[in-house]
Amino acid sequence: MARPRVLSGIQPTADSFHLGNYLGAVRQWVTLQETHDAFYCVVDLHAITVPTEPAALRRRTRVAAAQLFAAGLDPERSTVFVQSHVREHAELAWILTCQTGMGEAARMTQFKDKSARYGESAASVGLFTYPILQAADILLYQADSVPVGADQKQHLELTRDLGQRFNHRFGDTFTIPEPYILKEVEKITDLQDPSAKMSKSSSSPAGILDVLEQPGPLRKKIMRAVTDTETEIRFDEENKPGISNLLRIQSALTGTPIPDLVARYAGQGYGTFKKEVAEAVVDAFAPIRERTEKLLGDEAELDRMLAVGAERARAVAGRTMAEVRDRVGFLPTS
Ligand code: TYM
Repeated sequence: MARPRVLSGIQPTADSFHLGNYLGAVRQWVTLQETHDAFYCVVDLHAITVPTEPAALRRRTRVAAAQLFAAGLDPERSTVFVQSHVREHAELAWILTCQTGMGEAARMTQFKDKSARYGESAASVGLFTYPILQAADILLYQADSVPVGADQKQHLELTRDLGQRFNHRFGDTFTIPEPYILKEVEKITDLQDPSAKMSKSSSSPAGILDVLEQPGPLRKKIMRAVTDTETEIRFDEENKPGISNLLRIQSALTGTPIPDLVARYAGQGYGTFKKEVAEAVVDAFAPIRERTEKLLGDEAELDRMLAVGAERARAVAGRTMAEVRDRVGFLPTS
């Protein structure tokens, strides 16, 4: 029987992934390649929805791809590609845009958050239609499952709505995907503001742990993470969001359940606990950083790996689009 298919994407909008991207998404991508037919893309078309400098985009797209391979995606088992290399993403996005209501698009909270930063009238129309392009990414590959963090839930709901609407209007065409969200790691929070998610666009440098960062700064940031005025280590999301976030991180990285960690640190101060969290983060990130640097040392080879991924992705996307064009009523080109 064919394996179920999984698709996800990550934006090349920073010089490194952060711990939230890694625990909330990329780590699951690596696991799922064992059981699923896996497609993962670096979404450069999404990156340009906010002002982006071309040289930085080029660099960050390669850095993102290198980190994916370095984190454990195997080019034999996973199709890793750059979104703009597969033209069908933009084409399907247009067709889905024409199936989306203005009010429906206007309800997307990420646009409201992001545009508030620029002022709504300065925000691009692309930022407004961003979730429709994301729906196209997913539906093109007939994905069964989409591994993401909690912040993507609303976009996945829109994807399902658009897929169902298209199927209803034009006949069964798309697989309707399910989100794949692991509760324990769905929202890793900012070290300085544990009520907010760790985010490349809104966290301060002290609040974010970058995968490619050196051990020194990583340790320092964790030691300085905001906690509370008590001394007791326990999981209490509401009253102790900082400690709870560190427990979640430690548990995810070491595989030790949170109650076991709480028992282990009973009677010890925050200092010892934070030191051990820092070591777990450094141990997880160091090999990824080293492999990323090595991959970036040979750009031609990295580009070749991405070309192989793009070719495999195009084969699938091309099949879906041929059907979509016909269903919508476009004439064949020949
Ligand atoms: P992006 O690039 O912002 O983030 C990549 C992935 O990391 C997850 N994530 C987090 N998880 C837990 N805690 C956090 N603090 C945290 N911060 C980020 C995100 O949920 C995401 O899974 N719109 C998407 C990119 C995208 C996409 C797609 C995803 C484009 N097309 C198709 C899935 C399928 C985004 O902005 O991710």
